[in-house]
Amino acid sequence: MQLPESADRFRTDLLQWYHGAQRPLPWRTEPSLYRTVVSEFMLQQTQVKTMLSYFENWMHHFPDFQSLAKTPAENVLKQWEGLGYYSRARNLHKLAKAFVQLPQAPQSPDEWQALPGIGPYTAAAIASIAQNYPAAVVDGNVVRVLARLSDHTQSFNSNGQAVKAFTDAAQALLDRKNPGDYNQALMELGATICQKTKPLCETCPVQKHCLAQKNGSRYAASLPKIQRPPIQKIEIDRALILTQTTVLLHRIPDNATRLAGQYEIPSLEDLQLPRPSQKPHAVKTRGIANQRIKENLFLHGKPNQASTPHAHHWIQLDQLDQITLSGPHRKWLEQLLPAL
Ligand code: ADE
Repeated sequence: MQLPESADRFRTDLLQWYHGAQRPLPWRTEPSLYRTVVSEFMLQQTQVKTMLSYFENWMHHFPDFQSLAKTPAENVLKQWEGLGYYSRARNLHKLAKAFVQLPQAPQSPDEWQALPGIGPYTAAAIASIAQNYPAAVVDGNVVRVLARLSDHTQSFNSNGQAVKAFTDAAQALLDRKNPGDYNQALMELGATICQKTKPLCETCPVQKHCLAQKNGSRYAASLPKIQRPPIQKIEIDRALILTQTTVLLHRIPDNATRLAGQYEIPSLEDLQLPRPSQKPHAVKTRGIANQRIKENLFLHGKPNQASTPHAHHWIQLDQLDQITLSGPHRKWLEQLLPAL
């Protein structure tokens, strides 16, 4: 990557803008090491506006590493319910347990990376923001800003390849005196100005350093060039099986790679039931990463089995708040149950 002609001026312009324009996010207005760690875990796959209420709730239940470390795993997952990517909650819990045993907090990104759930990005974010360690963060947002800044037209096979390609330049451009603010300023620029499809080049504080915007914001929006994996279509048939006071739910096994220990509306496949001939009661679609998932919800009578199949449980309707339900499944039940 070609660095801006005046890297010093770039840093000053970026930081000056950030000090006036930054959003007053709770881990910025009231910073601490713990709050930085929690915010970075929540922000790994989730946007700020989605995670804010979870952050406040988390701090209410688990205000520090110690309280988190001594909470049973099930209660920890319950507070994460709805945020998705639950391995983050399990890792954050493991991290808290490991952290309280340490003689002192990790002091560098390498030391942070030895703890559960922490990759290069999160390690650099925590060490720079909470400990002033001069490590540059590089994620999709930062790649976008740097690719436009340098008018980088070469195509990448994946996000990971793009991150690697920009890592040295990002480190060279870092403001080593204010690494935390500088990193957050780049993230803030990516989130609010240098947006994916509609960059606001006219109001960009580092416009004069940016090579791509010289060809217009439509052109800037075409960068970076990263090949996306093909869309994978998935269709799942599910059975909504109710009595007057209960609903049959499937508990996802503890050794599952996704959503372990959570409840969901059971699939016809898990129940070993044939697909009904009638139309589904509701059809829900959603996208996760490169998957487009269509879920057909059928109303179904009690299965003709003496006992319920393994890992399926009759849950009292008035106890639904007590269990951890997969986020979309809770939403669907809340929408559908009152009308049934
Ligand atoms: N994304 C990841 N870390 C962030 C932070 N500290 N502030 C805003 N967005 C972020």
